[in-house]
Amino acid sequence: MILVTGATGNVGGAVLEQLVDAGQPVRALVRDPARLGARGGDIAVAKGDLSKPETLDAAFAGADRAFLVCAGGDLPNLAGNAADAAKRAGVKHIVLLSSSSVARAPDVQIARWHREAEARVKASGVAWTMLRPGGFASNTLRWAASIKAQGAVFQPLGDARTRPIDERDIAAVAVKALTSPGHEGKEYELTGPEALSAAEQVAKIGAAIGRPLRYVDVSEDAAREAMVKAKLPEGFIRALLEAFALIRSGKGEEPSSTLEQVLGRRGRTFDEWLERHVKAFQ
Ligand SMILES: NC(=O)c1ccc[n+]([C@@H]2O[C@H](COP(=O)([O-])OP(=O)(O)OC[C@H]3O[C@@H](n4cnc5c(N)ncnc54)[C@H](OP(=O)(O)O)[C@@H]3O)[C@@H](O)[C@H]2O)c1
Repeated sequence: MILVTGATGNVGGAVLEQLVDAGQPVRALVRDPARLGARGGDIAVAKGDLSKPETLDAAFAGADRAFLVCAGGDLPNLAGNAADAAKRAGVKHIVLLSSSSVARAPDVQIARWHREAEARVKASGVAWTMLRPGGFASNTLRWAASIKAQGAVFQPLGDARTRPIDERDIAAVAVKALTSPGHEGKEYELTGPEALSAAEQVAKIGAAIGRPLRYVDVSEDAAREAMVKAKLPEGFIRALLEAFALIRSGKGEEPSSTLEQVLGRRGRTFDEWLERHVKAFQ
C-alpha cells in the first residue's frame, strides 16, 4: 500500500488521483479529511500531521511505499518525522518532493530547507527517490485574485524566463518511481518543456479567458508589502524574495531532459496546464 501525503495539495492530489487510476492500493495522510473533498471518494484516509510524530505511526502502518510532500512549515522536521515513521512501519521506498534549487541554487534558503529535508530522509535508511522540480505552473494560481479584480498581475520577476512544470507531470514521475523498479537512489531534476516570462504566462492566461491582461513589473519592496498584507510569515517572505531575485538574474533556467527520459514523453505545456485551470482565472 502506498501512503500519500499532501493529498489535498497540487502535487500530492495529482499523485493520489494517478495512483487510484492505476489501480494501486493507496491511503491518504491528511490533517483534515474534509479538505479532500471529491478526491476522498472511496480511498482509505488516515488523519495525521507531519509536525506531530505521535500522529504518524497509525497512518503509516501497513504501508510499503510513501510519497512525501513537506510544506507549510519546518520542512526538515516534517520530512524527518515522516521518514522516521516510515522506517518504523517498514516502508521500503520513499519518494520525496524536493526542489531544483538544491542543486541549482544551493545557497538560497529554500535550497537549504530542501537539502536538509532530503538529508533527513536519506538518514532514515529507507530507499529514496528525490524529485527536484523547478517552478510549478500552479504558482500562477496566486495571480487569480488580481487578475479578477484588476485585470493585472503584479510581480518582481522582470523579463526572466522560467520553465513552469505541470503538477500532473511531477506526479507522473512520482507514480513511475513508486510503481516500477530502478528509481531508488536517483535525484530527478524536472522542468517544464518551454521557457516563459511572467508576462508571457499572463498573456496566455488572458488569451485563455478572452480578456487582455497587464503584467506589471514591481519593485521588491512593493512585492514584500503585498506579502506582508497577505500575512505570509516573515521567514517565508524572505525566502520567496530571494527566489524571485534568483529568477530575475536568469539563473537556474537550464532545461532538464529527465522528465522525458522517465516518462517517455514531453512534459505538458503551460497552455495544456491552463486548459484544466482556466476557470480559476475567470
Ligand atoms: N511552488 C513551486 O514552484 C515549487 C517548486 C519546487 C518545489 N516546491 C515544493 O513543493 C512543495 C509544495 O507542493 P504543493 O504545491 O503540492 O503543495 P500545496 O499545494 O501547498 O499542498 C501542501 C500540502 O501539504 C499538506 N500539509 C501542510 N502541512 C502539513 C502537515 N504539518 N502535516 C501533513 N500535511 C501537511 C497540506 O495539507 P492541508 O490541506 O492540511 O493544508 C497540503 O496537502 C513544497 O515543499 C515546495 O517547497 C515548490
